[in-house]
Amino acid sequence: MSKNCFPKWLDSAVFYEIYPQSFRDTNADGIGDLNGITEKLDYIKELGCNAIWINPCFDSPFGDAGYDVADYCKIAPRYGTNEDMKRLFIEAHKRGMHVLLDLVPGHTSWEHPWFKESMKAEKNPFTDRYIWTDSIWKEPAGYGSLRGISDRDGSCAVNFFSHQPALNYGYYAPDPNEPWQQSIDSEGPQGTIAAMTDVMRFWLKMGCDGFRVDMAGSLVKGDVDCKGTIKVWHQIRRFLDGEFPEAAMISEWGEPDKSIEGGFHMDFLLHFGPSRYNDLFRCEKPFFGGEGDVSEFVAKYMDNYEKSAGRGLICIPSGNHDMDRLARSVKGQKLKLAFAFLLTMPGAPFIYYGDEIGMRYVEGLTSVEGGYGRTGSRSPMQWDDSVNCGFGTSAPDKLYIPQDSSPDRPTVKAQLADETSLLSEVKRLTALRSAHSALQSRGGIEFVCAEKNSYPLAYVRSDDSERLLAAVNPSDKAVTFRSGFEDARLIYSIGSSQFSEGTLTLGAESFAVYEVQYG
Ligand code: GLC
Ligand code: CA
Repeated sequence: MSKNCFPKWLDSAVFYEIYPQSFRDTNADGIGDLNGITEKLDYIKELGCNAIWINPCFDSPFGDAGYDVADYCKIAPRYGTNEDMKRLFIEAHKRGMHVLLDLVPGHTSWEHPWFKESMKAEKNPFTDRYIWTDSIWKEPAGYGSLRGISDRDGSCAVNFFSHQPALNYGYYAPDPNEPWQQSIDSEGPQGTIAAMTDVMRFWLKMGCDGFRVDMAGSLVKGDVDCKGTIKVWHQIRRFLDGEFPEAAMISEWGEPDKSIEGGFHMDFLLHFGPSRYNDLFRCEKPFFGGEGDVSEFVAKYMDNYEKSAGRGLICIPSGNHDMDRLARSVKGQKLKLAFAFLLTMPGAPFIYYGDEIGMRYVEGLTSVEGGYGRTGSRSPMQWDDSVNCGFGTSAPDKLYIPQDSSPDRPTVKAQLADETSLLSEVKRLTALRSAHSALQSRGGIEFVCAEKNSYPLAYVRSDDSERLLAAVNPSDKAVTFRSGFEDARLIYSIGSSQFSEGTLTLGAESFAVYEVQYG
């Protein structure tokens, strides 16, 4: 078990995920840019988010929206320059905010110079940077591969799309009959780890505060229980503890018991994997849709929570660039309840840009840059009622992705002016969280009501200084439950709630937080 350093700022962190191509375009080319992010830092801060995660913004042919990196140390020209990134770090730090970049350690673009070298028949320093079999007629079992594109006689394993060759971190148990399968400790995989730590060092030195790590759980191949991948992360953890103990690391893994063991500070619950995250917002009958079941989510959450207790954070996102927009399945007042839950749970919450105004999934779009069905969740931010909703002043047909064209599409401007809007509620909720340490990342949690197929969901958040009872009822009927507390003082509510003689009554579509006494 690693005793990793834990950056103090994560205790009160609330993250905002920015998809850079769709946030704010300052030079009218139809694509968002880094200067656009810098320009909007005050907005993000006023929303109550004190940290951001920026999706990959590095040089790339953009076959997978930048998750196909061609140069890890160069900002893609369409987003600006390395100097712009440095300025963004400085401006964020001035405001007490932190910035995570997206590290894609598992694969590169097939246009990366490492891969071009690796394709050559003659041996060179990059021959073992990727996973190649020793014959074009042999494929790496269990993985897709690139074949017939090089003089080198072999097939190269790929990770996601066919244009994303897998970097070589070795096999957990190399097959002695397949000498091309290398052990984690051999030269090729160790060279990959060294190259990736160089990338991390490059950005951390410039002022970056850490990384969201793409597909963090699948680096080592043939590694069913992830033991090999955990070993690789331990090695990277030692590097970070030595040189950058304040750097924060969050994994796209979805299995906190494994990722936190590997030395990550935080892991996401995701739309794939065993977490039952989809039960909340994205399944046929999501709990926050008003007719779902939360009990299995809670059981799995507590299992992970106990396994990771105190060592790392379980982070629940409102959505991300790979999932359907939250507002596709959760509507109206129920969206406020979804945020009430997200912002009163332990771990650092992540708000996907635009979810705070209920931006919609744009239906029927043609795929953009490998987005396919994800494209509708990646449309340009809707700031105001000017051209392109204030995203930028390009011709509308030059926009990176077409915008929601409905006349009632939500905008930041309209919602800022309306006390009853989702955005105003989210701001009040982040303020509530920031005023109560028990509600923040490390405050304890105990679920006191999470019955099968039933509402409400209620939980107690506590630390040394206070104890708070939160209850949420996204259903369309009023509900009651015995709280187990004698006395309670209301400190926050959405909809209606009443506490009497230990029984809490929540109106339809309601949420409440009570301060309760230690019994
Ligand atoms: C992750 C990213 C996704 C990308 C994939 C391949 O799941 O979030 O957008 O396509 O990895 O890098
Ligand atoms: Ca631009």
